[in-house]
Amino acid sequence: MIIEVKNLSKKFKSFTAVDDVSFSVEKKDIFAFLGPNGAGKTTTIKILTTLLKPSSGEIILDGCDPVKNGNKARYSFGIVFQDSSLDEELSAYENMELHAVLYRIPKKIRKERIEQLLKIVELWDRRREAVKKFSGGMKRRLEIARGLLHHPQILFLDEPTLGLDPQTRNHIWSYIKELNEKEDVTVFFTTHYLAEAEKYSSKIAIIDKGKIISQGSSRELMERTQTDSLEDAFIKITGEDIRKEDYSAVDRMRQRRKVFKH
Ligand SMILES: Nc1ncnc2c1ncn2[C@@H]1O[C@H](COP(=O)(O)OP(=O)(O)OP(=O)(O)O)[C@@H](O)[C@H]1O
Ligand SMILES: [Mg+2]
Repeated sequence: MIIEVKNLSKKFKSFTAVDDVSFSVEKKDIFAFLGPNGAGKTTTIKILTTLLKPSSGEIILDGCDPVKNGNKARYSFGIVFQDSSLDEELSAYENMELHAVLYRIPKKIRKERIEQLLKIVELWDRRREAVKKFSGGMKRRLEIARGLLHHPQILFLDEPTLGLDPQTRNHIWSYIKELNEKEDVTVFFTTHYLAEAEKYSSKIAIIDKGKIISQGSSRELMERTQTDSLEDAFIKITGEDIRKEDYSAVDRMRQRRKVFKH
């Protein structure tokens, strides 16, 4: 198992965002972590990638505990966040270079690797342009290329195709698939486009209100719910209600106010 999570929980004050979650991901899996808004997906990814500390539980990432040994763990994964984290003022090439320096990629191979990845995502010809001039799809492609610079074993993608047109989504998925097949990269992703999960994932876990409520392949989830699409299976498993986030929204507002006061 390349990712092993046991009894993971995360509390924000009295609110439990991730509640006793356990799952494992095999090397070369394309693992879809699905759930309604506010289910706890991003929080889990943040914990796995050392951005948040868990309240309790155990994690092994590529043989290493990211909570105890964050620096080492950070070399085993690349991450594409739900919100863009590119430097808009810099060019595509400069964004790549900055990341390469942060990851201490030797100067000798830096140029070659950046060129190779920018060509894969078809941005080599636009490398000198400032990122602020890029469309959403181009930014997403650049972020994926950047996440791969240090040859990670695992790629975390938090809604990699959010807001993109079907053509661009297909493109992005064909890059991801190729990486998975040719470079054996394990992929851990979230999405609300259930057709993507149905088509590309090898395994799925569904989280709702912080708890994992179903796991299996998309075929297994459909069989279990007697549905013929993953979207129908998902709705049957998680229910029809729209997830309101009033509770946590109030919490967040309070937090923000605190920040302003200081
Ligand atoms: N820093 C924080 N402080 C307090 N509550 C938080 C914090 N971060 C997240 N939460 C709450 O934890 C819950 C899970 O949030 P999370 O971002 O993990 O959801 P998600 O599954 O990624 O949802 P989405 O599909 O909308 O991206 C939500 O109720 C959210 O408001
Ligand atoms: Mg999220």
